[in-house]
Amino acid sequence: METMEGLKRTAYCGAFSKENVGQTVTVCGFCQKVRNLGNLLFIDLRDRSGILQLAFDDSSDREVFEKAATVRAEFVLMAKGVVRVRESVNKEIPTGDIEVFVEDLRILAKAQTPPFEITDQTNVKEELRLKYRYLDLRRSEMQHTLQMRHKIVKKARDYYDQNGFLEIETPVLIKSTPEGARDYLVPSRVHPGKFFALPQSPQLYKQLLMLSGYDRYMQVARCFRDEDLRADRQPEFTQIDLEMSFVDEDDVMAVNEGFMKEVFKDILDIDIKTPFRRIPYEEAMNRYGSDKPDTRFGLELVDLTDLLQGTTFKVFAGAIEGGGSVRAINVKSAASVLTRKEVDKLVDFVKTYQAKGLAFTRMTDENGSSSFEKFLSENEKKSIRERMGVQVGDVVLVVADVKNSVVFDALGALRCELAKRLDLIDENIFDLLWVTDFPLFEYDEEEGRYAAKHHPFTCPKLEDLDKLETQPDQVHARAYDMVLNGCEVGGGSIRINDPDLQQRMFKALGFTEEQAKEQFGFLIDAFQYGAPPHGGMAYGLDRLVMLMLKKESIRDVIAFPKVQNSSELMTSCPSSVEEKNLKELSVQVRIEEKEERQVL
Ligand code: AMO
Ligand code: AMP
Repeated sequence: METMEGLKRTAYCGAFSKENVGQTVTVCGFCQKVRNLGNLLFIDLRDRSGILQLAFDDSSDREVFEKAATVRAEFVLMAKGVVRVRESVNKEIPTGDIEVFVEDLRILAKAQTPPFEITDQTNVKEELRLKYRYLDLRRSEMQHTLQMRHKIVKKARDYYDQNGFLEIETPVLIKSTPEGARDYLVPSRVHPGKFFALPQSPQLYKQLLMLSGYDRYMQVARCFRDEDLRADRQPEFTQIDLEMSFVDEDDVMAVNEGFMKEVFKDILDIDIKTPFRRIPYEEAMNRYGSDKPDTRFGLELVDLTDLLQGTTFKVFAGAIEGGGSVRAINVKSAASVLTRKEVDKLVDFVKTYQAKGLAFTRMTDENGSSSFEKFLSENEKKSIRERMGVQVGDVVLVVADVKNSVVFDALGALRCELAKRLDLIDENIFDLLWVTDFPLFEYDEEEGRYAAKHHPFTCPKLEDLDKLETQPDQVHARAYDMVLNGCEVGGGSIRINDPDLQQRMFKALGFTEEQAKEQFGFLIDAFQYGAPPHGGMAYGLDRLVMLMLKKESIRDVIAFPKVQNSSELMTSCPSSVEEKNLKELSVQVRIEEKEERQVL
């Protein structure tokens, strides 16, 4: 192997243009491709900035030419030569009108043939790409993504700094925080039988920083949640986390609207209108079936429950009598696309959201063909058609269930699925909004008690305070989520700063005084020493980057992501550890049987 001795890089490959013609330069990188035409030889040299052609010909030093002929894809090279105008221009790349005629070539490292070609036109399975992530990351698409991610993070640091925020690190080995997901636990060697948790977020620490007078805090913070993964979820992810003192909802929202405006302008040159629209939770659910509504398209939900009181159709009557509802979507002018067969697929789709069925009317003509209208009275049928504005060509899709949450989930997901299938989404729009007025609690069916929808430190709306003990389901929270194109990119709240109210909250959540003390004693104590009113929020940085760069999956914007079953394919972790390590930690392993999970 050769060394770099005597050579120093002049600039990245992508930095050269016709202006450099005649100059002697030194470039380095990986071999993208070799074209050996016998007496002419070209090497495409790639670094993080792009590709530059190296040229060799009859007039090259023989030794240099012969060495060049041994170069294979992904060899690491350094080359010194003169920039000259290319004979055949390559319009595909920015440096396509020049090349470097090489005088000195060094092979700094050889490479085995990679398991896949390093190119953006890849249809290689993601599993293979992730196993060889270090090669996958060489692709220019990944290089670009991670460069953009860097810029977004830098913008965040700059913006919050300019607005008076201090970046303060909080610990990673902590006492478990109640964010709602399962904790990752770390056994303590020094304290046998005791565990640290990895933070689900820096929530408690940032509140304590407010109490300590730091007033405006931010952190690019690593968070860990042991939960089932989805396209927008990772067990280990990054938040842009912030907290402010002496503020209300409007202050927190304004500062963060400012950030979004700047980050979109600086990174994508897109103008975002502020202030964002605010949609109360209840309206979001009723109209879109989701607390993170995608409002780039219509297909809004329509409540039919009142029209169907006393109906004889068992499916609808059962849902209504059981306290649930009947809701529908009118898919305008879709009867020819949503054939009977397509509608059957939609029935299967809603069933994955626990809906028991999907009733439909396809208005192929004035009468239409319907799976349920025959069970309704003329009057019921007419009033439904009227409310839904049904015309020839439309398709009406109905879900009924005793649980409103099932109706919302099924129709909420269905409208997004339909929008995708019918191509109703303008991908050039960035649809930013706030969802506000969340319920403070949600009922946890498994545990048979109320749980905090956000977390136990979220402040109830003052006008609902007297219902905290008597009608907890009627209490609203001073919480807000930021939603971008139907994805929750951030969320936060104004917190409780009154120790008595915090105690009431713990009680409402079913904690005994001892339990509250055991879990949050330090916080309860701290609040006795004067806590300013405060609030904040956290962005899911990975999600923000994913949406800004229009990537399908959160894995596409993380250098070394985990797959669906929370493992990392490249290093094959998690992995077993040696008995002696376990012993040191006083940990014994007993494996419970579990069903196999999918990998991606
Ligand atoms: P929350 O739990 O809503 O709030 O998290 C804030 C944001 O983090 C992102 N996010 C995730 N991103 C990727 N993978 C995950 N598993 C994941 N979970 C959450 C989301 C979400 O909006 N401490 C509070 C914030 C506060 O109240 O200030 C918190 O963590 O985009
Ligand atoms: P059935 O009488 O069970 O054949 O149902 C008549 C129609 O109602 C069929 O199209 C079913 O798909 C539909 N259906 C059944 N259950 C539901 C439900 N929970 N919500 C909406 N439609 C349903």
